Formats: sequence, structure tokens, C-alpha cells
Amino acid sequence: MWKNSVVARQLGLHVPIIQGPFGGGLSSVELVTAVSEAGGLGSFGAHHLSVEQILQVTADIRARSSRPFALNLWIPHQGSDEPQISEADFQRTIALLQPYFDELGLELPVLPAQFWPRYADQISAVLEARPAVFSFVYGVPSAEILEQCKALGIVTLGAATTADEAIALEQSGVDMVVASGFEAGGHRVSFLHEPEQSLTGTMALVPQVVDAVSCPVIAAGAIADGRGIAAALSLGAAGVQIGTAFLACQESAASAVHRAALFSPQAKSTALTRAFTGRLARGIRNRFVDEMQAR
Ligand SMILES: Cc1cc2nc3c(=O)[nH]c(=O)nc-3n(C[C@H](O)[C@H](O)[C@H](O)COP(=O)(O)O)c2cc1C
Repeated sequence: MWKNSVVARQLGLHVPIIQGPFGGGLSSVELVTAVSEAGGLGSFGAHHLSVEQILQVTADIRARSSRPFALNLWIPHQGSDEPQISEADFQRTIALLQPYFDELGLELPVLPAQFWPRYADQISAVLEARPAVFSFVYGVPSAEILEQCKALGIVTLGAATTADEAIALEQSGVDMVVASGFEAGGHRVSFLHEPEQSLTGTMALVPQVVDAVSCPVIAAGAIADGRGIAAALSLGAAGVQIGTAFLACQESAASAVHRAALFSPQAKSTALTRAFTGRLARGIRNRFVDEMQAR
């Protein structure tokens, strides 16, 4: 019975389907609870949220559903939350982007003292919120955090883009690994090597990771329907994490423009680009990607 996989059993799900978390305000309480109520695992991307916001989102989810759900954070780049950009570099970037702001009639941003809420504070909020699952990208949380999760009964789920990253996660005591193939939407969350050197497709990556670790493996990247789920389970995965297909659902926080783009002919062509955030990510190819590609 495919539904009764180790991932479903350990997470208390009816089906081993995880709704991938979305950062940048694209996650919604509606989507998380719709997926969790349907028997999968809803996930809320919280890397941009403050302590108060994480606790509020958790309360909102629990007010609608008592099913398991995941909170998701990004491990800070090179261990630091502090902005790594000088005023001069910031102004150079702003000059490059000014034509777009002018065209759209938007105000130019100023260099913030802090780009995101501090990870250490966010972790405290996640531990206080005590979701069924804490998922994360861009590395491995400290041994202390993983021990605290274990003590609180929070299952940890880390993303790997290579078999070596999966081994690193398992050896650190992470409970389950998401094998994220290079087709996946969003950022390439590599942490051992540059993402450009870690571009393995889902069909090749999943069996490599399954052979490399003994913990449950969840396949991610280009899975959008039953055929993809069947293929991932045939490759040895015990569950799937689906992102883009859930982002397109009406319960997600994607704007009308964003959702329309997902269903448009433009979405037939995606690109791996550093244009949007400086980190490599897969997105729909558009004018901005094309114009910024060389910059
Ligand atoms: C717009 C967008 C934002 C994402 N943000 C996050 C995030 O903050 N944290 C995370 O772990 N994964 C994030 N992901 C990855 C998804 O959770 C999921 O693993 C991925 O989309 C799976 O590939 P698919 O889009 O081909 O289904 C994001 C994906 C997209 C498309």
C-alpha cells in the first residue's frame, strides 16, 4: 500500500504527500490546513517571519486544523544573519534596478539594517510552537537544536541536492531527507558545494540518496500528479514534496498575476537564475531574467 509508507506512518498522514513550503509570503494558512485536512502535510515557509508572526501563524493553523503540519526555515548563509553587502554595493545594485522601479512607479528601497528576522529567534519560536515537523534548507541546524527537536517530539526534515548532503544531514541526526532534484521550483538549496555543481535531476538523485542513507527519503522536483508520485516511490522514495502544483492552487498566497503566469504559455520555459535574489533559483523565464542574466 503506497499510502502506508514510513513517512506517512511516522508523520501521522493518510498519504505521504508533503506540500512544499514557500518563502517570501507565498505560504498561506488556507493551503497548509487544506493539505493537512486532506491527509497530507501542509508546510508554512516562515523564513521571513518574526517570532510573533511565527506564533500567530501557528495559532491560526491550529484554529482551523488539528492535523500535523510543518514550519520551515532557512539556515543562515555562512552562519550569519547580518547583511553581507556594503552601502556602495547596494547603491550599485539599486542603479541597475532603477529603470524597473521607475517603469512601475515604485519607490526605491533603502539598505536595511537587517534583511530578515534573526534565525536564532525564529528557532526559539519554532520550538515554542512545536509543530509536528520542522523542515529547513541551506544546511544543518546545530546539534543542540536537533536535540531539542527530538526532546519535543518534532520530526526534522532537511533538504539535500546531492547524496553527500543527504549523508551529512543523516549523520547529524536529521530524521528525514528531502531529495531536491534540479527540476524543483524555487531556490537550489545546496550547502556543501556551489548549487551550479549540484544539479542532479530528480530521477537520478532520488535513487542515489536512497542508496546513501538509511533514513526515509522524500522526493521533490517536477512531481505534480499521481504519475510523478508513482515514479518517485518506484525509485525508493517513501514520500513526495510537491511545490509548484500546490502554489497554483487557489488556497496559496500567490497573487492573481503570479497564478496566471503559472498557467500561461510563459511557464513552459523555466530558468535557473541568480537574477531575483543572488542565489540560484528556478523560476518562470521572463523579461527580467533575460535582461539580468548577464549582470
Ligand atoms: C516560489 C517558491 C518558493 C519556495 N520557497 C521555499 C522555502 O522557503 N523553503 C523550502 O524549503 N522550499 C521552498 N520551495 C521549494 C518547495 O517547497 C518544493 O520543494 C519544490 O517546489 C518542489 O519542486 P516542484 O516545484 O517541482 O514541485 C519553494 C518553491 C517555490 C516554487
